[in-house]
This record gives sequence, C-alpha cells and structure tokens, in this order.
Amino acid sequence: ELVSKGNHRHYMLKEIYEQPIVVAQTLRSYLKRLDEEISLPIPEFDLSSIRRVTIVACGTSFYAGMVAKYWFEQFARVPVDLDVASEFRYRAPVLEEGGLALFISQSGETADTLAALRHARAEGQKIAVVVNVPTSSMAREADLLLPTHAGPEIGVASTKAFTCQLAVLAALAANLAQAKGRLTRAEERELVRHLGEAPAAINAALAYDEEIQLVAQRIAAARDVLYLGRGPDYALALEGALKLKEISYIHAEGYAAGEMKHGPIALIDEAVPVIVLAPSGPLFDKTVSNMQEVQARGGKVVLISDYDGIAAAGDDCIARITMPKVHPLIAPLVYAVPVQLLAYHVAVAKGTDVDQPRNLAKSVTVE
Ligand code: G6P
Repeated sequence: ELVSKGNHRHYMLKEIYEQPIVVAQTLRSYLKRLDEEISLPIPEFDLSSIRRVTIVACGTSFYAGMVAKYWFEQFARVPVDLDVASEFRYRAPVLEEGGLALFISQSGETADTLAALRHARAEGQKIAVVVNVPTSSMAREADLLLPTHAGPEIGVASTKAFTCQLAVLAALAANLAQAKGRLTRAEERELVRHLGEAPAAINAALAYDEEIQLVAQRIAAARDVLYLGRGPDYALALEGALKLKEISYIHAEGYAAGEMKHGPIALIDEAVPVIVLAPSGPLFDKTVSNMQEVQARGGKVVLISDYDGIAAAGDDCIARITMPKVHPLIAPLVYAVPVQLLAYHVAVAKGTDVDQPRNLAKSVTVE
C-alpha cells in the first residue's frame, strides 16, 4: 500500500482520526477566512437562480446527501429531491429545465451515480459534483466541481470522506442561503464561524474513543441493533446502521425516531441495543419520549447527546456518550464520529476484517 497505517491497527481507525485535519483542509478551500464569507471555487456559478436541487448518490455518500437535504431546505429554503442513484433514472424523475443536480461520491466512479449524472445532463440539468478524486469521471463531467480534500481513503467503509462531504455540503448550504437572500452579512459570518469550529468539535468527539470501546463490548454480542434519530440525525442513524452491518455483520436498522412506533417497536426486548442520537434542541424532547418507549419494553439504550441532553434525559440508559454542544449546521459532522467508532470497535471485538469486509468493494463500477 502506498498509504501507511501509521500507528493505527487499521486504515479505518487512522481515517477516523484524520478527520479534524482533513475537514479543516476541506473547509479552508471554501471559506475565504474563518471570520469572513463563504466562497465556492467557481463564483461565476449563479446559485441565486436555483429553484430546486436534485441530490443523487449511493451508500454513505447518499446519507451525506440526506443531511444536505435538511440543510438546504432549512437554511436556504430551496426544495430538494433525493434519490439513491440506482433508483433515480428508472423512476422517470421530473426535472425542471435548468435545475441543479448534485452528485456525491468519494470515488467519482460509482457506476450507478455516474449513469444518473449522464441522465440528468441529458435532461438539461446543471451538474454539480462533490468528489474526493479530482481526476475521476464525475469530476470531469461536472459544471461545478466541489472537491473534498480527505486524501486517499483505503478502508472500504467510508469515514473521513463522509465528514468532508458534509463540510462541503454545509458550506454549500450556507452559500445557497446567502445567494437566496436568507442570511444577513452578520448571520453569514456567524455560520462561517460555526463551520470553522467543526474540526475542534470533531477532535472533542474523538476523546470519547475509550468510552465507546467499552460500549462496543456490550453491543458485540447483539443480533440486532436499532439506531434512532430525528432530522439530520435520522440520516446519521441510517449511516450508523450501515457502518455497523458493513463491518461487524450485525443486523442493524436506522429509523426515524418518531416512526419506530409504526413497526420496529415490535422487535424491542432486553436483547436489542438501541442507539439514540439526540443533540439537545427543538426535537430533543420528542426523541427522548421515543427513547422512553424503548426503555419501557426493556430495550437497552445508548444515548449520544450533548451535556444538556445527557443531563435532561435521566439515567435509565446502559451508556451515555457526551458530545460537545455545537451549532445544528455542524452537529452531523460531530455525531458521525461516535457512530463510526462504535461500528469500528464492535467489528474489532468480533474479529472481522475491518478494512476489507466480505462481499464489499471500495468502489462499485457495475450497475
Ligand atoms: C461502496 C463503498 C461505500 C460507499 C459507496 C459509494 O458501497 O463500500 O463505502 O459509500 O460505494 O461510493 P462513492 O465512491 O460513490 O461514494
């Protein structure tokens, strides 16, 4: 391998630990200065004329797109369609002339995503891509290239590429909001300041590694694990479940916390660990009441929240993992860390091949 693991036992762990640096590196190319405004690399691209964004991706990149949907709608008030690439082309999507289609891919080569990009172009869309490989097919075919600067990612399960995608998408959400006149200069500066805090907050989340490793010992014996969250944390719940099944082979499901009562609640008993992602904020109380529904059925809850959330949620959990309290625009970058570390340590406890999980490929070039 050209890239070394350094002192780390696996590439995946090394890549998890690189996140403060690579996210900072990525943000630096989108923020003029940390106390100033956001500037995308191609300023002549007119964001103010965008009326709808269609986001298409696969796997972990799809979940980055799902977080971005929440951000674009909340901050810029721009409607967003979201599809997995293998569904997009075949559902006969209705695309407005001149709309923006945004493709997210670590490799820039995933066959389904590339085919979707070509379909969108043929349908008259402007093409924006968020890719980690600037020489990739998707990068070459884009009108607007938004690179992530994660460096080569070797672990098959994506980690640092995901948080770098989120960094770019957060900057894009803020820039779109600004272009749409939804932010005053002062508000824009405020968002930029919060974005600049992301690397330090990711670092603070990494400090819980040992605690997460202890939790992982308990999760490793489970047959099924449920992840719950609301809003952007719903996307992270899905990503957490994906990470766990990819590398530990434990069956895991991510669910919108409020939707649990319409199905998965039937699975809850003492043997099912439930990972609840719930930063304090407007959705917190609602998620906590879903968590209590789990506890009332004997489910074993691992709560991931900030100081305020942990203090408010009571102590009926098998573990509580404290995250720094951060702005909603950077929370997904921070909460990505405990779900990555949890999956990693469960996989190590089970003795699976973390960097090369069975049946999976780093880049899937068949449809
Ligand atoms: C594969 C990898 C995943 C990745 C997905 C999309 O399934 O194992 O880690 O998220 O492809 O890849 P892309 O390169 O398009 O982001």
